[in-house]
Amino acid sequence: MEATRKFPREDGLENGLKVLREGYMYAPNRHHIYKSDAFETKLLGQKTIVIGGEEAVKLFYDESKFKREGAAPEPAKATLLGKGGIQGLDGEDHRNRKKLFMDMMSKERIEIWAKLVEKHLLKATMNWLEKDSIVFYEESQKILTEAVCEWAGVPLPEKDVDKRTKQLVSMFESPMAASTRHIEGRIGRKQAESWCSDIIKQVREGDLHPKEETALYKVAWHRELDGNLLDLKTAAVELLNVLRPSVAIAIYFAFTALSLHQFPEVKEKLNGDNPYYLHMFIQEIRRYYPFFPFNGAITRKDFVWEGYEFEEDTLVILDFYGTNHDPRIWEKPEEFNPERFSDWHTSPTDQVQMKLVAQGGGDYDTGHRCPGEWNTVRAMEILTDFLINKITYTVPDQDIGYSMVDVPTVPKSGMILENIDLKD
Ligand code: HEM
Repeated sequence: MEATRKFPREDGLENGLKVLREGYMYAPNRHHIYKSDAFETKLLGQKTIVIGGEEAVKLFYDESKFKREGAAPEPAKATLLGKGGIQGLDGEDHRNRKKLFMDMMSKERIEIWAKLVEKHLLKATMNWLEKDSIVFYEESQKILTEAVCEWAGVPLPEKDVDKRTKQLVSMFESPMAASTRHIEGRIGRKQAESWCSDIIKQVREGDLHPKEETALYKVAWHRELDGNLLDLKTAAVELLNVLRPSVAIAIYFAFTALSLHQFPEVKEKLNGDNPYYLHMFIQEIRRYYPFFPFNGAITRKDFVWEGYEFEEDTLVILDFYGTNHDPRIWEKPEEFNPERFSDWHTSPTDQVQMKLVAQGGGDYDTGHRCPGEWNTVRAMEILTDFLINKITYTVPDQDIGYSMVDVPTVPKSGMILENIDLKD
């Protein structure tokens, strides 16, 4: 029998407040102190094992050991995720639902998405020309709301853009926020679910005719394994699983603008002769800046990993931020260095799948890895080219620092840009 050891255990009957106080650094701080890839703590009254590092990613995405049903805490379900959506499904039910999302993400559809992002960036720029300055994070939210609604086949009258943007943003800004912002997220989800249910109902009743390749059409007519359509509420949750995270790319847009400002030397390389550099740059933004801190799953059975005994039905949290900054994977992880990705296009898939966990790890079709990863990367590529080659702007003095405690975090100023003009 394999020799086992005890998990290092954090004292305290409830350590949720420490997570709120330390944000992105809660897990990496403790993995460092305990010199261990795993430690035990108590979060929301529940025994929880927190794991991190490349081997931990491989473990976490092993479906034979983990399930997602019951893993998400109530505050996340009430804001970010909703109830009945793909994130809480397992096995065949999950695969069938995942196909719904993967079918939206053909190469052609991703390129259409990229073109729409560019179109709405250009449309917004026409307004920016009239202004002294803009807050780029806020502008990006509206651009992405317009782009994703058009891409998904969801009607969005001009007069509703601000309202819908606010609702979608409230859902991803609020799961770990303090009281007022958190309540706004709960209200935002209710309003957005009601909006999306109504649209899906119109499609099913023949009053709205989205194209077959759109997310709205696919969600409205998706069939579960029992042959039934999704109930309206679940369908709304899944449509929002396309709209909300697409708008959340605004956070990466703000970090893209920040990185061009913080590391101006990359601009020359971006316009140089390495066609792969743009992609490397985007990968490094997703690794370097904090976004999604961690995710949870429940053990399906007893097993031993790295000598630790995991018991069935235990909540396990995988530390994304710490893994993306683990010095065993990344040389000098605190340096911004796109070159670290220079051989990734020739690397085996499993290396790519288990190291960079900005949007989850493992396999797209069979696991819970984010199906919108390539939409995210393409939107960031389009934005980078836009900021470097399509417009000129200046970055005034402002607080570009970002909190490591607020989740999700963005540059404090929201990235103010001034003197925006089109390039000749
Ligand atoms: C802002 C950029 C994004 C980030 C940081 C992000 C992050 C994530 C993460 C961390 C997960 C969970 C992975 C796991 O469970 O292990 C996830 C899942 C998911 N994402 Fe994204 N995502 C982004 C953009 C998108 C986009 C653009 C879409 C759709 C168009 C999308 C749709 C989804 C869906 C449906 C899931 C659930 C997948 C499943 O449970 O099988 N995401 N995302």
